[in-house]
Amino acid sequence: MTQAPAPIEAVIVAGGFGTRLLPLTARRPKHLLDVGGVPFLEHQIARLARAGVQHIVLATSYHADMFEPILGDGSRWGIRISYVLEEVPLGTGGAIRNVAEALSPNPDGAVVILNGDVLSGHDLAGQLADFETPRDGRAVDVSLHLVPVADARAFGCVPTDDAGRVLDFVEKSDNPVTNQINAGCYIFRRRVIDTIPVGREVSVERETFPGLVADDALVVGFVDSAYWRDVGTPQALVDAAVDVVLGVAPTPAVEAVPSGARIAADAEVAAGAVVGGGSVVMSGAVVADGAQVRGSVVMTGAVIEADAVVAASVVGPGARVGKAAILDGVTVGDDAVIADGATLAAGDRVDVGAQVG
Ligand code: GDD
Ligand code: MG
Repeated sequence: MTQAPAPIEAVIVAGGFGTRLLPLTARRPKHLLDVGGVPFLEHQIARLARAGVQHIVLATSYHADMFEPILGDGSRWGIRISYVLEEVPLGTGGAIRNVAEALSPNPDGAVVILNGDVLSGHDLAGQLADFETPRDGRAVDVSLHLVPVADARAFGCVPTDDAGRVLDFVEKSDNPVTNQINAGCYIFRRRVIDTIPVGREVSVERETFPGLVADDALVVGFVDSAYWRDVGTPQALVDAAVDVVLGVAPTPAVEAVPSGARIAADAEVAAGAVVGGGSVVMSGAVVADGAQVRGSVVMTGAVIEADAVVAASVVGPGARVGKAAILDGVTVGDDAVIADGATLAAGDRVDVGAQVG
């Protein structure tokens, strides 16, 4: 009798503080911020489910209690979701090790691991097939999705040889040795997870990957240049939202609106307001007469008053942008108030509850 293949499982590391996204992450993890009409993680969960993953473990820490009420048990996607809490963040490698007991024990199984902030259209099924292709009779230990980028300094640099074998892993350096970077989607042989030290902070990027390469483990790269974006900054979050709404970023989680905006059924947009350029206007938000919202996200219950102009910006839940105010490339925290006529410049951030102008 042949044994049924082990179910494919996945881990999403989602316990970071989201510091680069403050003030939007003051009250929630970045992983649950809306991107194009749904909480970000729904894009990843829907993709994993579509690639055949049957069980996803979320490794949470910061605002851990917010995940399950929003994402549920996975039945919406026909899969199972479990939640594992780190009381104290254990780093990316520690987080992976910490969920080992929630995974099935088959040492030869494949475990997909995602950074919980990457919007990607890469061929995950193809990466899984490549992972299961032995090299010179030897099973792959770890596969890393790699993408070429113009500026690699903010990422993990991953040089490979002609056969695609990973030669090194250098996390965030001023002089990147290659423009080929770690895209934050790994496939681990289940047994490799058990080699990560228990109960202490471990960086998968700074410790586990360099260690595996030094120990001659078979670590391979899977290069795929499909749509890819780390949504970890306000600018990237807005760009990703626009890409999802306009259909530039392929996602099974939500339908595109190529005509230009996603407006919640219970949002109020005045007849004389203009909302477009891939904007999202969330539940209970108001855009008053004469206001313009372009390529922006207006979160739950936020108010854009008459004749205001909001471009390439995120207006947080419950915030208010005053009459004729102008925002371009601005991040407004929850419940903040921007005075009538104020002009804010690109890169400005307004704290939760602040009054500006
Ligand atoms: N559970 C848990 N515990 N998750 C964590 C922890 C932790 O202690 N620390 C970070 N994470 C999660 C974050 O929430 C995020 O989903 C993921 O790990 C990656 O952390 P980031 O803070 O977003 O890392 P990064 O963007 O600077 O760099 C990483 O991603 C790049 C690609 O976007 C690295 O993996 C780079 O090598 C990579 O190029
Ligand atoms: Mg990131």
